[in-house]
Amino acid sequence: MAYSDKVIDHYSNPRNVGTLDKSKKNVGTGLVGAPECGDVMRLQIEVDEATNTIIDAKFKTFGCGSAIASSSLATEWLKGKSIDEALAIDNMEIVEELALPPVKIHCSVLAEDAIKSAISDYRVKNGLPALELAHH
Ligand code: FES
Ligand code: FES
Repeated sequence: MAYSDKVIDHYSNPRNVGTLDKSKKNVGTGLVGAPECGDVMRLQIEVDEATNTIIDAKFKTFGCGSAIASSSLATEWLKGKSIDEALAIDNMEIVEELALPPVKIHCSVLAEDAIKSAISDYRVKNGLPALELAHH
């Protein structure tokens, strides 16, 4: 299977790999796994509460090249977005941007799920109800 140039770029030079301080109230952590392959993705957001804007995002992915590229791209997209804008990120936008083939679509689903799971964690930490995480 051929990876696109963008996947190779994100895979060989992933953006925003790392960890944010989980104990902070304005940090949300998402941890998701793909039933298809067992790959695991952790994605974290840091929110500026005054403006409801995501000011930082980090990830660690134990998975395939497409999963690493999807989460790297997701963290780039998240920075500067409002929570609502972040919630609107659809995995098919990642598929398009990275030109993922059909067998790799679930890798992008993992990234979308990780975003939503991080936002849900942030909400719960701040007294809001958890998000219902849709199962694809
Ligand atoms: Fe399963 Fe990419 S996350 S193959
Ligand atoms: Fe759950 Fe696709 S089966 S993410």
